Amino acid sequence: MKAGRAAWRRWLEAFAFLSLLAFLLLSFPPASPALASPEEKLRQACNTCRGIVDRFTQGLTDTAKKNFGGGNTAWEEKTLSKYESSEIRLVEIIENLCDSSNFECNNMVEEHEEHIEIWWFKRKKNHPDLFKWLCIETIEVCCPVGTHGPDCVACRGGSEKPCHGNGDCDGDGTRAGDGSCKCKKEYQGEFCLDCSDGFYNSYRNDTHSVCTACHYSCKTCTGATNKDCKDCKDGWLRHEEACVDVDECAVEESPCNSDRYCLNTDGSFACKDIDECSHTEEVCTGENTNCINTPGGYKCICSEGFEDKEGICVPSIKAEEKSSANTSSSDIHEDL
Ligand SMILES: *[C@@H]1O[C@H](CO)[C@@H](O)[C@H](O)[C@H]1NC(C)=O
Ligand SMILES: *[C@@H]1O[C@H](CO)[C@@H](O)[C@H](O)[C@H]1NC(C)=O
Repeated sequence: MKAGRAAWRRWLEAFAFLSLLAFLLLSFPPASPALASPEEKLRQACNTCRGIVDRFTQGLTDTAKKNFGGGNTAWEEKTLSKYESSEIRLVEIIENLCDSSNFECNNMVEEHEEHIEIWWFKRKKNHPDLFKWLCIETIEVCCPVGTHGPDCVACRGGSEKPCHGNGDCDGDGTRAGDGSCKCKKEYQGEFCLDCSDGFYNSYRNDTHSVCTACHYSCKTCTGATNKDCKDCKDGWLRHEEACVDVDECAVEESPCNSDRYCLNTDGSFACKDIDECSHTEEVCTGENTNCINTPGGYKCICSEGFEDKEGICVPSIKAEEKSSANTSSSDIHEDL
C-alpha cells in the first residue's frame, strides 16, 4: 500500500506542474513577432499607403504607354481618350497595386477601393496629389511632412525644419510617434540645438545651430583649438592654458616591462620591443653569426652557409658540396 501511495503522489505532483504550466502559458502568451504593436501598425499603415500610391503612379505610366501607340484612327483616338479616364483603366491599375503576398497592401486596397474610385472619377482634377488626398486626408494614415501623431501636430522645432535640421522627428509624416527628436551625433537636447561632448557651437542663433568637432586634445570645448578645451581628454594635461600631451615615458619608473621600451604617443604611450640587434654594441660576437631580434630578446644564429657545431659556426657540409659542384670540375670530386 505504501508503494501505491507514492505513485499517487507523483501523479499529483505531475498534475500540479502541468496545471501551473498551462496557467503560465495562458496568462503570458509568447509574444508573436508577426503581431506589431498598435504604434508600429500606425507607422506601417502610412508606408503601405505610400506604396499603393507609388504603384498607382507607376500604373498610370504603364497604361499610358500601352494605349497611345500612335497611328490611331479618329475612331480609335476618341475611344482612347475615353480610356484615359475610364473604369477599365482604373481596374487595370488597381489590379497591380499590391503583390499578392502583401497582406497589408491587399487589405488596404480592398477596404478603400471605393475611395480610390471616388478620386479617379470625381476628385482627380481638383486634388491631383493622390498621396495627399488618399493617405493624409481621406484614409488618414499619414501626416504632412514635419508633423506626426493622430492629429498631425508639428514636430519638435516646428514642421518647417523638425529638430532644427539636426535630427529626426519621431513619427515624422505618420500618425504615429511622439514628435521627439533623435539628434545626429554632434547634437543633443530636446531640440537638437546643443552640442554633444567633443563638439562646440561654431554658429548659433535662436533657430539655428552648427556643432563642430573639438580639438583632439579636448573632452569638451568652446572653440576649435587646444586652448579652447573645457576639459582635457585622458592622457592630456592643461599646461599654460592649453591641453598638452602627457609624456607617460618621462617618469623614473617606466610603465613598460624591462624588456620593452616606452614610446610616447598623442594622448597615450606604447610599450615597444627593444631591438637588441640594432644596438651599436654588437651582441652576437661569434664569427659568422647573425643577430635576430625576438619579442623580449634576441637570438644569435649562424650566417647562411654555416652551421652550429658545439657553439661555433662552421661551414655547412651541404653548402660546401653545392658550391664545389658548381665551381669545380670533376677531378676535384675525385680528389675528395
Ligand atoms: C539664424 O541663422 C540662420 C542661418 O544663418 C538664418 O537663416 C536665420 O535667419 C537666423 N535667425 C535669426 C533669428 O537670426
Ligand atoms: C649551382 O648549380 C645548380 C644547378 O646545377 C643551380 O641551380 C644553382 O643555382 C647553382 N648555384 C650557384 C650558387 O651557382
